[in-house]
Amino acid sequence: MYLGLDLGTSGIKAMLVDDGFATVGVAHAALTVSRPHPGWSEQAPADWIAGAEVAIATLLREHPQAMARLQAIGLSGHMHGAVLLDGADNVLRPCILWNDGRSGPQCAELTGRADFHGIAGNLVMAGFTAPKLLWVAENEPAIFEKTAKVLLPKDYLRLWLTGEHVAEMSDAAGTLWLDVGKRDWSDALLTATGLTRSHMPRLVEGSEVSGHLRADLAARWGISQVPVAGGGGDNAATACGMGVMTPGTGFLSLGTSGVLFAATESYAPNTGDAVHTFCHAVPQTWHQMGVILSATDSMTWLSEITGRGVPELAGLVAGDVAAPSAVTFLPYLSGERTPLNDPQATGAFLDLRRASGLPDLAQAVMEGVAMAFTDCVLALRKAGTPIEAAYAVGGGARSRAWLRIMASATGLVLLEPEDGDFGAAFGAAKLAAACATGDTSDRIFAKPAVRAEVLPDPELAAAYKKKYETYHAAYPRLRDLTP
Ligand code: XUL
Repeated sequence: MYLGLDLGTSGIKAMLVDDGFATVGVAHAALTVSRPHPGWSEQAPADWIAGAEVAIATLLREHPQAMARLQAIGLSGHMHGAVLLDGADNVLRPCILWNDGRSGPQCAELTGRADFHGIAGNLVMAGFTAPKLLWVAENEPAIFEKTAKVLLPKDYLRLWLTGEHVAEMSDAAGTLWLDVGKRDWSDALLTATGLTRSHMPRLVEGSEVSGHLRADLAARWGISQVPVAGGGGDNAATACGMGVMTPGTGFLSLGTSGVLFAATESYAPNTGDAVHTFCHAVPQTWHQMGVILSATDSMTWLSEITGRGVPELAGLVAGDVAAPSAVTFLPYLSGERTPLNDPQATGAFLDLRRASGLPDLAQAVMEGVAMAFTDCVLALRKAGTPIEAAYAVGGGARSRAWLRIMASATGLVLLEPEDGDFGAAFGAAKLAAACATGDTSDRIFAKPAVRAEVLPDPELAAAYKKKYETYHAAYPRLRDLTP
């Protein structure tokens, strides 16, 4: 039995699988995001522990015998967040999340201080960890002074589980302090941010042991002091769950964020169009991805402002979409990374008319997110990583209409995995198995069977090509109008 624990932006998920990776049980606990100022996005790390306790207690209650046979735990979580701890491991301020845009000004400053592009292999983007620390240094100097350790979100859960400060490569790559080619912290990049190696956790690979479950938790839960695997950032962990470990088929994740992910032959940084290049969660592997900041979050926003549930809104769009919505949507509600790298970018509805109704808006939101993915396909192609086919995962992939729109707008063949739950928690459970068995082969990281292929529809694709022109032209013009 293996447990995967995924710290998602909207909730924690605990997934228990058996040795053949069949699901034994799944438990959730919801989380909320606090937005105290425009562009800010924060969570209290204490809420993650409370959520993990709830999810694990549910599994213990519902599957006591299976939990007693647990062999290892794997972790995954939303990337880039900065958890600041003092010398006694007290949390100094709320965690600044991956979709927080406040550190835009610090990005330019950091870029000039050291060779981030060359060493970290990525643009210095707001939302990544390093510029957040510069923001704290400049705006909350007393907190910066007290900071003894900086942990990524899932690594704070690890500290609670094991008592150890440890990070693993895939998530560490998103801090901008890792030499991504060498898989080690970079003194030059840490110095540029006013930090040293002492502020960093120890590094392991995602498939290695990072520590063991603390005696008091093990006793309380009635399980042994099992190893906790390094795990992975949520995207690398999802890739582990889908067997996306080598070039070829990638995955497209329609979660709070939107991700188009491809494993690469080797370390292949290319910062053009804000393509991300990070370590994968198993040794000597890397990947590239395009990341959009508001995928299902755009639909959640529409749901919040209209008071209709997300399933209801999704249901307003017929599964056999035949033509584009008359309305165009730009999904830059939290700024955008790929390809714009603009934390100040804003969302928009264009072409509204008196006749525009909620179904038009709901479809426009799906299409706007699909156009943002089209930009990711183009960015990865330019970066030398063309993708033709991708597994579709994440909550949004449950909508037939959205998948049809997505395939036709992007030109990708979308593969729907057989029934099962192939998200980051599943990948984290697989990394737990890899750490317990020492096996990182495709016996563990197998590809799922495909239930259905969603192909681009030629007529719809032609219509979306036209609509993409409007979409693509809108951002620079609106940017020039934004005060
Ligand atoms: C990746 C990214 C998001 C978060 C949240 O760079 O910022 O995908 O990991 O899921």
